[in-house]
Amino acid sequence: MSSFAPSSPPPAVSVLNRLPATPSNPTRVMPSNVTNTPSTPAQASQAGTSSATPAAAATPGRERQGSFGGSSRVKHLKPFNTANIKILLLENVNQTAVNALKEQGYQVETHAKALSEEVLVEKIKDVHCIGIRSKTKITKKVLDAAEKLGVIGCFCIGTNQVDLEHASSKGVAVFNSPFSNSRSVAELVIAEIVLLSRQLGDRNNEMHQGNWQKVSSNCYEIRGKTLGIVGYGHIGSQLSVMAEAMGMRVYFHDVAPLMPLGTAKQVSTLDELLSVSDFVTLHVPETEETKNMIGEHELNLMKQGSFLINASRGTVVQIPALAKALRSGHLGGAAVDVFPKEPAANGKFFESELVGCPNTLLTPHIGGSTEEAQSMIGVEVSTALIKFINNGTSVGAVNFPEVDLRAIRDEENSIRLCYTHMNVPGVLGRITNILADHNVDKQFSDSKGKIAYLMADISDVTPEQIQDLYQRISETPTNIVTRILY
Ligand SMILES: NC(=O)c1ccc[n+]([C@@H]2O[C@H](COP(=O)([O-])OP(=O)(O)OC[C@H]3O[C@@H](n4cnc5c(N)ncnc54)[C@H](O)[C@@H]3O)[C@@H](O)[C@H]2O)c1
Repeated sequence: MSSFAPSSPPPAVSVLNRLPATPSNPTRVMPSNVTNTPSTPAQASQAGTSSATPAAAATPGRERQGSFGGSSRVKHLKPFNTANIKILLLENVNQTAVNALKEQGYQVETHAKALSEEVLVEKIKDVHCIGIRSKTKITKKVLDAAEKLGVIGCFCIGTNQVDLEHASSKGVAVFNSPFSNSRSVAELVIAEIVLLSRQLGDRNNEMHQGNWQKVSSNCYEIRGKTLGIVGYGHIGSQLSVMAEAMGMRVYFHDVAPLMPLGTAKQVSTLDELLSVSDFVTLHVPETEETKNMIGEHELNLMKQGSFLINASRGTVVQIPALAKALRSGHLGGAAVDVFPKEPAANGKFFESELVGCPNTLLTPHIGGSTEEAQSMIGVEVSTALIKFINNGTSVGAVNFPEVDLRAIRDEENSIRLCYTHMNVPGVLGRITNILADHNVDKQFSDSKGKIAYLMADISDVTPEQIQDLYQRISETPTNIVTRILY
């Protein structure tokens, strides 16, 4: 048990819920590598703004600084002395994230590589928050070894590497960054439209083999050509604007009726889009409906000599059918960035029926792989982690009910309850009873699968009452994690 946890928390309670030192809980001990003297400007600023007692922390009128809330009238909630929060960042998580987390005064440990399950099981024991990319596996065993873990940041798009269900059953929220690389993908697709239209892949290969082939037949400008976008979300809509700026006509198909950007037009069926487009580009998610979405029938509907681009998910296109359409000359070319089976590591592991097809650009799932996207991912995920740790906000979590409340004002002597609990009947009634003598200013609750999350701001609470509320709520039989922020 943490030395600065409440005197006897129930075993299921995360250490993120620890209380500040109060008369009834006076023995907070700092970890050996943390002193009471702030060592960085950020810690110094926090030491000046957060106090050992909730009453002092809520002193009205004090100027507060911090990344969230903006104005000094917004109360910066502190569940703990942030210098005690341990963050473990693996796999060279971007420096933007390291800086943002350090600025909060957290202890941040970084590693360039992923850690094996065996090492991680030891390492994660006293960690409150772990940041990973795609190689680290957060398995059930790792989660069970994590005594204090409250939140996981996946500094990437996917979250398959985390046992999401087990994480949520333990009240551990998982955040990722699904849209930080939209621009990078859209730019790659614009490049591919030009490259395909000029057969640049083939010319480049020939030149590298010393073969000079000056060709103009079947090479085109893209100006005035029709781009058909399948899936008009973050990437599709960004692409729409860029393609129009290049002089293209844009049509799109999406299951949702969407406001077209610029002069783009939505068409009602995929078949219609395929039959009018010179270039078809896919930007749909991987779902049951999009699996094998483009096969022989759809390719046959595409214009003779037209081009297909897939930078969405490998399962969306049937590769044998595409290879056939390319080799027969029905399609003028294709650019493929994603494949049904992708090698797990870099090396000479790639095999596909598309290898050697004419005017076919093959790239190793690099659509979103740019320095800018990595930097944006660092900012987005670290922001979500800080908001969850400091404010309880779970908006954007992939495995957790998404809940947020507007800020508490600094002059309010309020506390915030963050209660992750089992999603079963009667819970809210029980909590309402516990809070019956208090003024609940605002509350919001939502559920996802087997768990639910309640955030409630409660005014005029004394330090002794905080301890009492914490004790009673964390001891409810449906408790997964109780945190009180003040
Ligand atoms: N190649 C890469 O490196 C890379 C990088 C980022 C994203 N992606 C992939 O790109 C795809 C799109 O990403 P996004 O961020 O634009 O997603 P998004 O969720 O913002 O947009 C997807 C759009 O597709 C639409 N859609 C869903 N099912 C559809 C269907 N059956 N038919 C037509 N439209 C449908 C949705 O309504 C939505 O508008 C995803 O598969 C994502 O995984 C790839």
